[in-house]
Amino acid sequence: MPSKIVARRSAIHGTGVFATAPIAKGERIIEYKGERRTHEDVDAGDEGSAESGHTFLFTLNDEYVIDGARRGNVAKWINHSCAPNCDSIIEEAEGDDRTRDRVFIEAKKAIKPGEELTYNYGITLGEPHTARLKKIWGCMCGQKNCTGTMLQPKRKPAAKKAAAKKAAKPASPARGDRAGKATRKRA
Ligand SMILES: C[S@@+](CC[C@H](N)C(=O)[O-])C[C@H]1O[C@@H](n2cnc3c(N)ncnc32)[C@H](O)[C@@H]1O
Ligand SMILES: [Zn+2]
Repeated sequence: MPSKIVARRSAIHGTGVFATAPIAKGERIIEYKGERRTHEDVDAGDEGSAESGHTFLFTLNDEYVIDGARRGNVAKWINHSCAPNCDSIIEEAEGDDRTRDRVFIEAKKAIKPGEELTYNYGITLGEPHTARLKKIWGCMCGQKNCTGTMLQPKRKPAAKKAAAKKAAKPASPARGDRAGKATRKRA
């Protein structure tokens, strides 16, 4: 599959990823690659700090996080937006080995050449989203509906319970400052 994307300087933040050719709605664009690390391993280091405001970590499931900074690919440069043109999809592999689960970035609408690719990171922290933390995780997506922060509202406990009952296999919430608002699919 020839690549339709390139990484370059972004007006949103640092390096971003842009389309170099038309991308159709629903098209699978790239896999979010990187080393599988346990939550415990990441929590023990600095990369998972809520104070940093910067992360290449993606919550894969209850056991693992994908670290895009280690053996990652261009997907690690895709920025967050409050009105994204892409979705992140977690594909759960058959069997018990959760390192085999994978994340793909797919177009949620048609994307024209030159447009920046974005998805909603779905970041929720393991501590209250104070004004200070919202600022540290400030959003510069520039969209009309920008909330001003990459941090997402936490689901209320009652809603969480109801959702968990409905799901055949409950989706793991994002833990720490990791991208986590992904749709789950069986491979
Ligand atoms: C996976 S990196 C994306 C690549 C990043 N632009 C870079 O050059 O390192 C994620 C980090 O980029 C920054 N970022 C991504 N989207 C952003 C946004 N909408 N507003 C502000 N910063 C953003 C944040 O620091 C975030 O933790
Ligand atoms: Zn925004």
